[in-house]
Amino acid sequence: MFDRNMQKIIVLNSKGGCGKTTIATNLASLYAQQGFVTALMDYDPQGSSMRWLSLRPQDNKKIFGVQAHRQPGSAQTRAFQLRLPHSTERVVIDAPAGINGQALVDFVCQVDVLLIPVLPSPIDIHAATTFIKDLLLVGKIRSHGVRVGVLANRMRKNTRVYQSLEKFLASLKLPFIASLRDTQHYVHAAERGIGVHELWDKRAEKDRQQWQQIMVWLEDNRAMIAAQQRHVP
Ligand SMILES: Nc1ncnc2c1ncn2[C@@H]1O[C@H](COP(=O)(O)OP(=O)(O)OP(=O)(O)O)[C@@H](O)[C@H]1O
Ligand SMILES: [Mg+2]
Repeated sequence: MFDRNMQKIIVLNSKGGCGKTTIATNLASLYAQQGFVTALMDYDPQGSSMRWLSLRPQDNKKIFGVQAHRQPGSAQTRAFQLRLPHSTERVVIDAPAGINGQALVDFVCQVDVLLIPVLPSPIDIHAATTFIKDLLLVGKIRSHGVRVGVLANRMRKNTRVYQSLEKFLASLKLPFIASLRDTQHYVHAAERGIGVHELWDKRAEKDRQQWQQIMVWLEDNRAMIAAQQRHVP
């Protein structure tokens, strides 16, 4: 049964290195900091999110980690391996690069929201448009009722590079929800198992503000999904 209090968000893009783990870990840490019972599921065999979690200081808000990329041991079922605490309110999924076909459909079916980070290079933007077309055709995101939001990651000053992507998204009525700047704050936070919201550094204030747009968009979606569920008999 759908749990109205739980929201599942996957950070996905078939392209490697666009910031999936950075965004998944920052989102999980922000939710945890806001007081939500939060789980982080790592489907990437590289295990980057789980490595990040293993570095997380004891004093920071706890995040429940699931090593979803591992095959369960002989004494374990897959369902047991993927179990979440009963009270989980936010689930953030870090996906591997190169997902397509049936694997893409399987991921899309189990989430409420899909976040797609895109880097500001023509190659990345082109790859993102192909990936989004795949999501619409193969993943049938619209018929599954999954919300999709695109994020510009590692932004420098030149924002014009995204114009073609913006046009493409507008033609599909998909939102460009926020831009995150290219800064060492993300690198420093990642080394310590925390997010930019947990850095004491005042210079990271701009980055924290950029996350507000993402959180507002996610919250609007959650409210909309919950309202739709209320109308299901
Ligand atoms: N906004 C940012 N500012 C600075 N560095 C960033 C930012 N986002 C990501 N990075 C850095 O870029 C690199 C790739 O990011 P990340 O590991 O999050 O990408 P990924 O999509 O998860 O990669 P993979 O496909 O290999 O899983 C990392 O070194 C990360 O620290
Ligand atoms: Mg990753």
